[in-house]
Amino acid sequence: MDAEKLLLTRRSIRHFKKDEVSEDVLWKIFEICRFSPTSKNCESYYFVVIKNKEILEFLGDIRGSNSSPIKRAPMAVAICVDNSKTKRVYEDGCIAAYHFILASWIFGLGTCWIAAMDRDEVKKKLGIPREHYVATITPLGYPENVPEPRPRRPKEEMVKFVE
Ligand SMILES: Cc1cc2nc3c(=O)[nH]c(=O)nc-3n(C[C@H](O)[C@H](O)[C@H](O)COP(=O)(O)O)c2cc1C
Repeated sequence: MDAEKLLLTRRSIRHFKKDEVSEDVLWKIFEICRFSPTSKNCESYYFVVIKNKEILEFLGDIRGSNSSPIKRAPMAVAICVDNSKTKRVYEDGCIAAYHFILASWIFGLGTCWIAAMDRDEVKKKLGIPREHYVATITPLGYPENVPEPRPRRPKEEMVKFVE
């Protein structure tokens, strides 16, 4: 898939097929994720892969319909940042998460940025240190269907040229 198509066709996916994601594909995604930019190239981010059904249910139930895509996927991935490696935890984490989302789409895999969570509760459940930052937990799986794009404002409204 060329880069323009990748960026234009990505969607948030909230319903998934039952098909598992192979280890091979997963590692191809993580290989791409190695190239996510970080502040001072500190590589502060890491990924927690969740396949346990009970944990997927727990995460999916945390915020009702907002978090429910997690329990409809065969797996989920938490994108985390080790705060001892950087001051830029939010930037490093969010960029790494989007890198993961785009890399997944290359392989036809759907994701959805889930912000709806109680981070302390989630960290406890996943064994993530309290001081670390969890950018998001995204479900991961093959899309049941790919929605039409959500409405977007015209580009002229979002750009300001300074003379
Ligand atoms: C910071 C952020 C938080 C989001 N939180 C949630 C969420 O908690 N649950 C959810 O279903 N989607 C969530 N989304 C997905 C957005 O709803 C989605 O990106 C938006 O509607 C545009 O649709 P698209 O991603 O298909 O282009 C979030 C997206 C972002 C960037």
